[in-house]
Amino acid sequence: MTTPVTVDEPTDADASALGAMHLRSWHETYDEAPGIGAAWVDEHIGFITSPPADAFRVRTFAAQRADPSRTYYRVARRGEVVVGFVHASLPSQDQDDDGDAKLEALYVLRSEHGTGLADRLMTSALAWADGRAVWLEASPLSVRAVPFYRRHGFEPTGETGVFRHRVLTVTLRRPADA
Ligand SMILES: CC(C)(COP(=O)(O)OP(=O)(O)OC[C@H]1O[C@@H](n2cnc3c(N)ncnc32)[C@H](O)[C@@H]1OP(=O)(O)O)[C@@H](O)C(=O)NCCC(=O)NCCS
Repeated sequence: MTTPVTVDEPTDADASALGAMHLRSWHETYDEAPGIGAAWVDEHIGFITSPPADAFRVRTFAAQRADPSRTYYRVARRGEVVVGFVHASLPSQDQDDDGDAKLEALYVLRSEHGTGLADRLMTSALAWADGRAVWLEASPLSVRAVPFYRRHGFEPTGETGVFRHRVLTVTLRRPADA
């Protein structure tokens, strides 16, 4: 019998496993991408497994506990193994707040692609956003990402960027629910 996937609020003890899973997903996605490769991922993205990155995640979990209406973070596990996560936020109240939520990150391991787990994480984040518009940045080099987001109602805004001087990104936005 296949071990089911659970989706829960993370605890501080999940911080380093989430960093390792995030870096693994980067490798699975970009090691073969034109102009990127494994060495570039390790050099420029490897920091996400560092103690400061773990501390950042722990602060994010604390922010969620303090005000779950502004921070949303969920970890997906198959058995004991972290296989995905989603992180979304509202801008802090002292920022110029247009009311839009930002989908900060949504990653699932390759072994979970096409299983519906990413849909489950997205659906939960959209429920958290409670009808607000949501925006995100994604790379077309992650070939599944843009089709996935479009299926969930996101459309490219026309804005583009370059992450860490190398990874082309596009901005997508899902309008507020009518
Ligand atoms: C992006 C991600 C969350 C989507 O989850 P998933 O389980 O792969 O998504 P799905 O299988 O539901 O959908 C993938 C879409 O890509 C399409 N696709 C699959 N292979 C493709 C390819 N080679 N080229 C283009 N599109 C492709 C699928 O047909 C599907 O589109 P559809 O819904 O219109 O049929 C997941 O692939 C992932 O974590 N990727 C790595 C990390 C990442 O890029 N995250 C986003 C950061 S912004």
